[in-house]
Amino acid sequence: MSRPIIIAPSILSADFSRLGEEVANVDKAGGDWIHLDVMDGHFVPNITFGPPVIKAIRGASKKLFDCHLMIAPADPYLEAFAEAGAEIITVHAEAGPHLDRSLQAIRALGKKAGVSLNPGTPESEIAYVLDRVDLILLMTVNPGFGGQAFIPAVVEKVRRIKEMVGDRPIDIEIDGGVTPQTAPLVVEAGANVLVAGSAVFKGGTPKDYAANIAAIRAAALGARGEG
Ligand code: DX5
Ligand code: ZN
Repeated sequence: MSRPIIIAPSILSADFSRLGEEVANVDKAGGDWIHLDVMDGHFVPNITFGPPVIKAIRGASKKLFDCHLMIAPADPYLEAFAEAGAEIITVHAEAGPHLDRSLQAIRALGKKAGVSLNPGTPESEIAYVLDRVDLILLMTVNPGFGGQAFIPAVVEKVRRIKEMVGDRPIDIEIDGGVTPQTAPLVVEAGANVLVAGSAVFKGGTPKDYAANIAAIRAAALGARGEG
């Protein structure tokens, strides 16, 4: 049985002056999870938001908060993100020398543990932590900014990761340059969670968000022959 297709709007492309309202908008527009991009200006060349902002928008939606930490180190902040209301906490394999410890710490907080790989990082980095993860997030752009072009070389990595995962209950999530055009490539290779920022928020109105999410979902389901 394949895992369900999940569309996770990234609020990085939302109007930050109305963040709570935008979270509610993409929830009502059909987004399955809310993807939160946390950046520290150190691991990635951009700064976004942290636990207090996540806590402030937590009440705007009951949907799962999928927290993508692009920060190094991550371990000192895991508890704060858990307390702020994140349900999935994803750390980058490149962010620290003790990935296994970080993943254990996330699960010890009662949260789902995710691991992310940059486009240039091989799948072998996570070969020995597969039993510690609930989600693998493969970056299809270099992290730091929304609106970048999808890197097609990662599609082959998706295929390899899918094989490594086997029948473990692990979601394979794709982040960066996801559109109705690129979604089928990664779904066909084995991904089931699609993050999209600019492709969801394009147009700027809740009506646009609903149409954009529906278009990505239809393309993904079509690639599975479930359309
Ligand atoms: C990039 C972030 C992504 C980003 C995706 O570092 O992790 O979640 O918001 O944006 P789009 O969908 O515009 O590529
Ligand atoms: Zn992200």
